[in-house]
Amino acid sequence: MVNTLGLGLGLLLALVAVALHFTKGTEWRPADDISQEVLERRAETVPETDFPEPMNRSIGGGGGAVAVGAGTEGELEGEEGEEEEEGFDPDAIPEDEIEYYDVEYVNEGATIEVANNETLLDAGEDEGWDLPYSCRQGQCLSCGGKIVEGDPEDVVHSTNETLSDDEVEKGYVLTCTAHPKADISIETNETP
Ligand code: FES
Repeated sequence: MVNTLGLGLGLLLALVAVALHFTKGTEWRPADDISQEVLERRAETVPETDFPEPMNRSIGGGGGAVAVGAGTEGELEGEEGEEEEEGFDPDAIPEDEIEYYDVEYVNEGATIEVANNETLLDAGEDEGWDLPYSCRQGQCLSCGGKIVEGDPEDVVHSTNETLSDDEVEKGYVLTCTAHPKADISIETNETP
């Protein structure tokens, strides 16, 4: 009798164990890695700028944003390179390479010699003429003049932050930063 009860209980326990074995439990799964997604979303909130700030970007940007920063830097380097090519530094002209050109100032009714390391404004002022100017750095339009005989390429600006390519093509110059490269006639007090 005891043996039959024990056997029955044993059998029941074995069946329960087998049933538990095949029952699907709550399995543990690792959470998806969303860190990259979060970093990219944060990088999108960093505003675009024209100047390099890789450290600033890397705070919220992670790897992707640093790559963007590196690209921006590359573009800036390219722009700087272009500026260097176009830049004209009159002070860098050696003494034995200074050349003089005849520049007619139509409104003043005189033709004077202007050196290629001298600005059209300085040369005119040396004559005692009261020519218009303001910043003397190519940043406004007060000193504007126009080539009336000659080509736009007959002058070179050390700095021109005002005139567009189109206006330069039409012969406009900033006399405060324009240097002659050939004989020309100009009208002072002329702006686009
Ligand atoms: S004085 Fe300002 S651009 Fe010449």
